[in-house]
Amino acid sequence: MPDVERRIAALFDATLNPDDRQMGSDEILDKAARHDGLLLTSFDKLGPAFIPALAPSIRIIATHSVGYDHLSIPQAEARGIAVTNTPGVLTDATADIALLLILGAARGASWGDRMVRENRWGETTLLTPMGHDVTGRRLGILGMGRIGQAVARRARAFGMAIHYHSRRPVAAEDVQGAVYHPRFEDMLAQSDFLSINCASTPETRGMVNAASLALLPQGAVVVNTARGDIVDDGALIAALASGHLAAAGLDVFKGEPNIDPRYRVLDNVFMLPHIGSATPATRSAMGHKCIDNLVQFFNGTRPNDLLTAK
Ligand code: DGY
Repeated sequence: MPDVERRIAALFDATLNPDDRQMGSDEILDKAARHDGLLLTSFDKLGPAFIPALAPSIRIIATHSVGYDHLSIPQAEARGIAVTNTPGVLTDATADIALLLILGAARGASWGDRMVRENRWGETTLLTPMGHDVTGRRLGILGMGRIGQAVARRARAFGMAIHYHSRRPVAAEDVQGAVYHPRFEDMLAQSDFLSINCASTPETRGMVNAASLALLPQGAVVVNTARGDIVDDGALIAALASGHLAAAGLDVFKGEPNIDPRYRVLDNVFMLPHIGSATPATRSAMGHKCIDNLVQFFNGTRPNDLLTAK
């Protein structure tokens, strides 16, 4: 974002990415070599060899994302590198996309759009195509952090009943009557819609798999705005193809942008290219949060969004 780049350039001796180009890990390592800090995104494909290969001059990595599964915190700590992220400022934008996915998947936004573009509107009848109601249905939220709570607030306005599973129950005023399920499995049976809003961690990776999907009611809808690797793609694709699931809405994919090609041929999947935070105001706020963290760090104060021990 130009305002973020201007502020960085005024504060630091910075190497920018003026072409907004995705760089590979080697190029980032190369450009980072003469710097003390690094600002990168969750879209950068880094790999496990990245942090150990960083120049010894690097003392902090500020990631322009709330998720930090692309960085190993233990590796950073072992190298004495601080890591910060950008919680809070992308909550609403990401929750908006979760609702877009819920509505788009339930009402067939992908095939509806295709029918109009392909001049096939004339094929519609009173009975086909047909979507699914959202009002009065039950939404199960996996991960009731900031974004999960913002999804719940929006879904309530659509008349949905909210259930959730997270490691701990959330304060009553933050969940406004949502039903807590200490066991993920117990929530699934109560979820006509499942919204995935937890972080990708060793515990959550692959958590939405054949066994968990089988517990959802027939005709359920799954949406994911968190991370693709929380879902077992083979299991989700099989459940969509068999009709056990009515639809899915996906903004994130394992291995993105190289997604499992089987998704592309399923008519009941509504897909977006990881745009949860993609609005100018949100991306700019994320950038300024990165800068605030860098400034605090280099001034010798604890950054607001420090993920590492120091
Ligand atoms: C985040 O901030 O983690 C979003 O998914 C964008 O990467």
